[in-house]
Amino acid sequence: MSAYLLTRPEPRDGPQPFDPSRHMRQVANLVATVFADELDSRGRGALREMQFVGRLSPMLGDALSIALFNEYISGHVWVEGGQVIGNVTLQSVDQAGSRWRISNVAVLPSYRRRGIARTLMLDALREVAQRQGNWTVLQVRADNDGAHDLYLSLGFADVSRDAVYRLPATPQRIPPPDARLEQLRPLTGGDLLDLARASRTALAQWADPIRSQDYQIGLGKAAGEWFGRLVGFYRVERWGIWDDRMLLGAVETRANWSSDYFVMRLAVRPSARGRFEEALIARGLMSLAQAGAMPVMIEHDGEHVEATEALLRFGFKPQRDLITMRRAVRPQDAQL
Ligand SMILES: CC(C)(COP(=O)(O)OP(=O)(O)OC[C@H]1O[C@@H](n2cnc3c(N)ncnc32)[C@H](O)[C@@H]1OP(=O)(O)O)[C@@H](O)C(=O)NCCC(=O)NCCS
Repeated sequence: MSAYLLTRPEPRDGPQPFDPSRHMRQVANLVATVFADELDSRGRGALREMQFVGRLSPMLGDALSIALFNEYISGHVWVEGGQVIGNVTLQSVDQAGSRWRISNVAVLPSYRRRGIARTLMLDALREVAQRQGNWTVLQVRADNDGAHDLYLSLGFADVSRDAVYRLPATPQRIPPPDARLEQLRPLTGGDLLDLARASRTALAQWADPIRSQDYQIGLGKAAGEWFGRLVGFYRVERWGIWDDRMLLGAVETRANWSSDYFVMRLAVRPSARGRFEEALIARGLMSLAQAGAMPVMIEHDGEHVEATEALLRFGFKPQRDLITMRRAVRPQDAQL
C-alpha cells in the first residue's frame, strides 16, 4: 500500500483527468497553439502563469500542486504518445459548486473530428454531476459553428450574446441626434438600473447578473466623477431619452485619459428598439469627441440587433462576439 502511494502510476495514453503536476505545462502549450490568434492580454497573462506553474509543477511534487490547483482548476485531457493533444478545463464558478464553467476546449488540428472533444466534454459533464453541480456554462465565438454544433449536440442551449465593438477613432463629423435627449443628472435614483434590467433578458441576467453598483449613481460616485473631471483625469457623461417618467434609452461615455481608448455603454428598452439607437450613439460620440481623438470601445448586447446595425453604420467593427451557453446537469449524468 505504502509503495503504491509513493510511486505514481505510469503515464498512459487516451482520455484521463487533468493532473496539474503532469499536464499543466502541456495544456498551456496546447492552448497557446490552438488559440494563438484569439487570446487577449488577460488570456495571455493567464497562459504565462500556467506555463510558469507548469515548469514548476514537477519540482513542487504532487501534494503541493494538487493543493494549489485542484480547488480551482480541474478538467480532462487526451494524451497520445505522452503528449496532451486535447483538453477541457473545468472550474467551479460559485462557492456552492452549483455552477461550473468549461473553457479551453481544444484539440490539436491533426487529431480533430475523431470524437476527442466530445469524449472530454462528456467526461467533464460526468464530473460535474459527480460533484453535485447543477449547471455547466461556457462561451463560444459566434462564428465558431463547429464548436457551437458540438455543444448543441451535448444538450447546451444559447443563453446570451455579448460582443465588443471598436471604432478606431472618435469621428470628426457626427450627424446631430434626431431625438430629444437630456443629460442625466447624478443621483437619478434607480432609473439607469431599471433600464439596464429591462434591456437584458432574464436568461442573460442569469448568466451575468446586473450589479446595482454598476448603475446607481450615488453621492460617492457622483463626487468621484466630479473630481475626476475637475482634475482632468476622466470625464463621464450620461444622456437619456424619456417617455413621461420612464427612461427609454441611455448612453454613458467614459473618457479616461490614462487609458488607450474611450468607453461607451448603451441600453434601450425592448419596446423602444429601432427608434433611438442612432441618436444615442451620435450623442455618445459627440461627448467623446469633445474629450479628444481616441479609439472607442463598446461592450454590446449581441441580441440587441438594432444597436448592432447602428454601430456598424457608424463604422464600429466587432472585436469579439461570444455566445454564452448552458446545460443543466442531472444526477443521472454521473453515468454518462
Ligand atoms: C472545436 C474542437 C475542440 C472540436 O474538437 P474535435 O475533437 O474535432 O471534435 P469532435 O470530433 O469531438 O466533434 C464532435 C462534433 O462536433 C461538431 N464539430 C466539431 N468540429 C467541427 C467542425 N470543424 N465543423 C463542423 N462541425 C464540427 C460535429 O458535429 C462533430 O461530430 P461529427 O464529427 O460526427 O460530425 C476543435 O476543432 C478545436 O480545437 N478547434 C479550435 C479551438 C476551438 O474552437 N475551441 C472551442 C472554443 S469554444
